[in-house]
Amino acid sequence: MKHDIIEKNIGLMILLILVAISFGGLAQIVPLFFSTETTQPIDGLKPYPPVALEGRDIYIREGCTVCHTQMIRPFRAETERYGHYSVASEGVYEHPFLWGSKRTGPDLARVGKRYSDDWHRAHLYNPRDVVPESNMPAFPWLFENVVTGEHTADKMRALRAVGVPYTDEDIANAAKPFEGGKVKEVDALVTYLQQLGLLLKQNR
Ligand code: HEC
Repeated sequence: MKHDIIEKNIGLMILLILVAISFGGLAQIVPLFFSTETTQPIDGLKPYPPVALEGRDIYIREGCTVCHTQMIRPFRAETERYGHYSVASEGVYEHPFLWGSKRTGPDLARVGKRYSDDWHRAHLYNPRDVVPESNMPAFPWLFENVVTGEHTADKMRALRAVGVPYTDEDIANAAKPFEGGKVKEVDALVTYLQQLGLLLKQNR
């Protein structure tokens, strides 16, 4: 039997297994690079303005991703609660993705404009002031720390290098909104939260 040759030769077997698996992988992955659904931005998608961009970095630094996903799956139970399911073309300027995988708190992919700025500020200062049963940590230092904006232009340049279409003008003006030290970290974070997921119609 020819198959005996493969079964008795572990090196050959490993090689053939790798060939078989890579065909499956290629068939799944390669088309994604050519599909416009995954490579083209959704209508109206713009690179993050400077304040939202800094807010996003604070979101990453504070570990919000540990408890919050930004990925609404296409199931009824999810879309009823959170709104339209997440689509790839919303995320083409996301570096890195913040999809997450663990929901201690709710998904935040479409939390933009669901609450007022004041609600978010109160909630971030002490979640239990607005949601008594909440086990989300408080983030009071965000109300003291000022965003200097000294690295915002560098961040935009780095993002441009991986394909986010920031213009020279965007980069030249990156530090402007932070002049005078008026932007606290909480302001940047709330700006980021309030624009999340607005491009697709919400269910509520
Ligand atoms: C230890 C887990 C944990 C971490 C870390 C965490 N959260 Fe939460 N978050 C929760 C839980 C649980 C809730 C639900 C109760 C509540 O509303 O406070 C929640 C609720 C929220 C909501 C309200 C969502 C809705 O649809 O009602 C927002 C907005 C939010 N969190 C933002 C943040 C941000 C921003 C950070 C990072 C600065 C963060 N969370 C960090 C656990 C967490």
